[in-house]
Amino acid sequence: MTKYLFLSCLLYLATAGYAMAADSPAQDPFKRGEAAFNANCARCHGVKGGGTDKGPPLVHKIYQPNHHADISFRWAVERGVRAHHWPFGDMPKIEGVSKDDVENIIFYVRAIQRDAGIY
Ligand code: HEC
Repeated sequence: MTKYLFLSCLLYLATAGYAMAADSPAQDPFKRGEAAFNANCARCHGVKGGGTDKGPPLVHKIYQPNHHADISFRWAVERGVRAHHWPFGDMPKIEGVSKDDVENIIFYVRAIQRDAGIY
């Protein structure tokens, strides 16, 4: 009996620990992606990817995955983008965003695209 009590305590601790880890911003790709997006992309692509007068919305049909796959986000940050879809001019390459943060940004943008019913 004590053994079962002990085991269920362990199980409880493990689940509580997992829930805490999942809640902490450092572990959550959505929250990390949102923070990195707001710090590096939102001044042109807008809060929540809605666009500004300096850059297009990323929550937009043309940026859904089968049109602009994840690799186009990596390239955009690494190399910049020559203007081809919009009249905003070129996107400069963005310095100081780690590879991890680019992946988190992609995770975040895909999530808000799905929320908006883009795909
Ligand atoms: C200085 C303004 C500016 C900033 C900052 C900026 N972008 Fe852009 N971005 C643009 C513009 C303008 C375009 C549209 C170019 C076109 O197609 O006409 C663009 C296009 C893109 C595209 C489409 C690429 C393609 O292949 O067509 C992606 C993806 C993208 N940006 C991601 C990002 C991400 C992620 C960040 C932040 C790390 C970021 N941008 C920061 C201005 C910006």
